[in-house]
Amino acid sequence: MVLLIIVPFTGSIHGGLQEGKAITITGQVRPGTGRFHVNLQCGSSPGADIALHFNPRYDGDSCVVSNTFQHGKWGSEERNNNSMIPPGSTFCLLITVCRDFYQLKINGWQFMDYRHRIPFYPVDTISVGGNVSINSISFQNPVFPGYGAFPVQPAFPACVAFPPQCGFPPQPSFPPAMPTVPYKNSIKFKPGKSITIQGTVHPSATRFHVNLSYHFGIALHYNPRFSDSIVVRNTKQGEHWGSEERAGGMPFHRGQPFMLTICCENQCFRILVNGAQAHTYNHRVPPNKISSLEIEGDITLTSVAL
Ligand SMILES: *[C@@H]1O[C@H](CO)[C@@H](O)[C@H](O)[C@H]1NC(C)=O
Ligand SMILES: *[C@@H]1O[C@H](CO)[C@@H](O)[C@H](O)[C@H]1NC(C)=O
Ligand SMILES: *[C@@H]1O[C@H](CO)[C@@H](O)[C@H](O)[C@H]1NC(C)=O
Repeated sequence: MVLLIIVPFTGSIHGGLQEGKAITITGQVRPGTGRFHVNLQCGSSPGADIALHFNPRYDGDSCVVSNTFQHGKWGSEERNNNSMIPPGSTFCLLITVCRDFYQLKINGWQFMDYRHRIPFYPVDTISVGGNVSINSISFQNPVFPGYGAFPVQPAFPACVAFPPQCGFPPQPSFPPAMPTVPYKNSIKFKPGKSITIQGTVHPSATRFHVNLSYHFGIALHYNPRFSDSIVVRNTKQGEHWGSEERAGGMPFHRGQPFMLTICCENQCFRILVNGAQAHTYNHRVPPNKISSLEIEGDITLTSVAL
């Protein structure tokens, strides 16, 4: 919960966005004419991409304009009747991240669904400006009933986001042939770079793993285990395994296709599954030492984009 908010306000979204995450903004529209906006955006630099621009207007046609700002340009506006938040009124705006859209509720009532035009995972910043006063901004992490009562990210590590790259994950260029398992290829990794692995989990899979290896071991061993419904992450330095990280959900499913993206940031790997954030893993080995990518286990690969 962020309190004492002076508008214009820009702040980071703790833990970034993932499916099921909700942001609640309470405030009051200034009386009279004017406008205000709430942006969910990729970083705070000028010209940053804005995934969702929510903009009630009270000058001219009273309406709520929603839009996306990408690559320095606004997209096409979506306009809605704004009778739900008249000038002078207090409001509670709840934005929930859904797989295909942001769901916007005002004072508990459905207001609109805004379809994603750019992926939500690079969104890490919220900004509010205009003729509004803000009482609170709070974030709720998702809880998936299927995976016990723990939130997907119980303790989000202090993970300083690398300047995010907005835009869809790299579409693999048509490979000459489907990659086969076990897979091994040499790679270079550094903050700002990501790899995307697409494939399908075997119907009776027990496990698979992805190794980001370096000369003396494995910087990241990422190991989904279907019998235990967990993803184990670890590092091997020489012959020694470190301490396992096991928190978080199991985003892979037997028999299902998946897209796994590993983004290298300054302090951690951010791991996305099907576009939603699944895990982070703080670097134990400098990522620029990584020299190969290895994939093995009960999956079929369709593409690996380095
Ligand atoms: C907006 O909604 C209100 C209440 O439903 C309605 O009275 C009004 O006519 C609507 N305005 C427009 C421009 O659709
Ligand atoms: C709305 O905000 C603009 C810019 O900050 C300001 O010039 C204007 O006076 C405000 N209007 C109201 C009604 O507060
Ligand atoms: C990944 O690392 C583990 C642990 O060293 C090793 O057993 C496995 O063979 C590696 N996978 C590949 C495909 O090389």
